Amino acid sequence: MKEPDSAEKLLTEHIKNENLRKHCYAVESAMKFYAEKLGENSEEWAATGLLHDLDWEEFPDTHPNTAVPILEKAGYSKELIEAVLGHAYPERTNVPRNSLLAKYLYACDEITGFITAYSYMKPGGLNDVQPKSIRKKMKDKAFARNINREELVKGAEDIGVEFDEHIQNVINAMKEDPRLK
Ligand SMILES: [Fe+2]
Ligand SMILES: [Fe+2]
Repeated sequence: MKEPDSAEKLLTEHIKNENLRKHCYAVESAMKFYAEKLGENSEEWAATGLLHDLDWEEFPDTHPNTAVPILEKAGYSKELIEAVLGHAYPERTNVPRNSLLAKYLYACDEITGFITAYSYMKPGGLNDVQPKSIRKKMKDKAFARNINREELVKGAEDIGVEFDEHIQNVINAMKEDPRLK
């Protein structure tokens, strides 16, 4: 099997929006953290995080189905592609999240968005974000309205990581990523 095309190259080709790229970096960092913690393939987990929203900018109405041919052509594994399909609402793809890779992607995706949105309001950025403050802010319905609170909780449940611990892990991973400064 050929080596897949560079994930970073694919990302810059298909995603021009700086905020969306940063979201992809954040999910990549969280996935890498968990792969290392669990002794999984960190390159593949990182690529799954980086590429999960690959078609979002060009094809928002068919995301993530439109990412499939791009990822296949670039040489990515069936497991990565199934995880990408699994992060969407079931009415979009109807692909269950069976693998650990799929479950962790789902758990890391939306929470990074919420943490980022919260950190933008804080003078110290990510340094000022704590699990407790995130949980409190989740009750503020007007804040980051497009992020479904139940999904945040369910994501952590599905990987069997206590919610505060999961939030802290993701914050730590994001803090270590110089691209998110
Ligand atoms: Fe997505
Ligand atoms: Fe995403």
